[in-house]
Amino acid sequence: MKGVSFLRLAAVSVFAAGVAFASTSHAGVAEGKKIFDSKNCGACHQMAGPAKEKTIEDQLAKKGPELWYSGSKFQKDFLKGWLKDPKPIRPMEYYSLTKKNTGNHAKLDAKSADEVAEYLMSLTSDAVKKAGITPKGGPKGRIIFEKKQGCYGCHEVTKGGNTVGGLTGPTMVGAADRLQPDWIYAYLVNPKVFKPVKDMPVYEGILTDDEIKTLAEYVSSLK
Ligand code: HEC
Ligand code: HEC
Repeated sequence: MKGVSFLRLAAVSVFAAGVAFASTSHAGVAEGKKIFDSKNCGACHQMAGPAKEKTIEDQLAKKGPELWYSGSKFQKDFLKGWLKDPKPIRPMEYYSLTKKNTGNHAKLDAKSADEVAEYLMSLTSDAVKKAGITPKGGPKGRIIFEKKQGCYGCHEVTKGGNTVGGLTGPTMVGAADRLQPDWIYAYLVNPKVFKPVKDMPVYEGILTDDEIKTLAEYVSSLK
């Protein structure tokens, strides 16, 4: 009898340990989703993709960028930091060409930011394939970015210690720490999958695949 109850006890504690282990590895995601929903973040952010299943009205009803592919787009440490202390990514307000972004985005406490980041990182898109893009600065990418295609006309970069460039698109200052290289490539090939409304010129067919790869490597090196 004694042996049986010992075995039962052992089985119960192994079971309990298993549950505890499983719940710690998923706690961030579930907790993060709860916080995300309770703060109504989805009122401004599209949380379901792909874009082609949504109407233009669905998209325009959202006052901020799509987050349904966050786990393929962002670097986790960036998200954790930004959700605690959000600094403007877009120089101008979303959907505006004239109003400056004053940086009044909702802020989360440190614990909530970590959990929401875990949740957002669990959302990925199969439109982002492993493309083996690795950060690479240097003249090849810079010449396409600044001269050949004028990306610079819409995106800020750092030059000689100053921030220079256009204000229409998100800043590329800090892209190295913010974005995943393979996502940058996927976005340049097919921006409409990710941003059906507020996007940019489509470069597929204008740039060769090699040039798009070079640009993705260049953007992902920008500090
Ligand atoms: C009133 C609308 C609104 C609400 C509510 C809102 N956001 Fe945002 N969010 C925005 C806008 C606008 C931006 C773009 C800010 C920028 O570029 O600086 C943004 C940007 C973001 C980004 C960066 C996305 C990117 O593509 O650059 C993340 C991550 C994010 N929000 C998460 C959240 C979370 C988490 C919540 C809830 C706590 C939330 N947002 C609530 C409007 C909103
Ligand atoms: C006419 C203006 C314009 C030009 C030219 C342009 N972009 Fe963009 N770009 C945009 C806009 C607008 C967005 C998306 C807006 C948003 O999410 O707020 C964008 C988004 C991006 C993003 C995603 C950034 C993010 O945080 O979501 C990358 C990367 C990018 N552009 C790189 C480039 C490169 C490389 C070129 C040149 C080949 C280029 N852009 C040319 C306007 C432009």
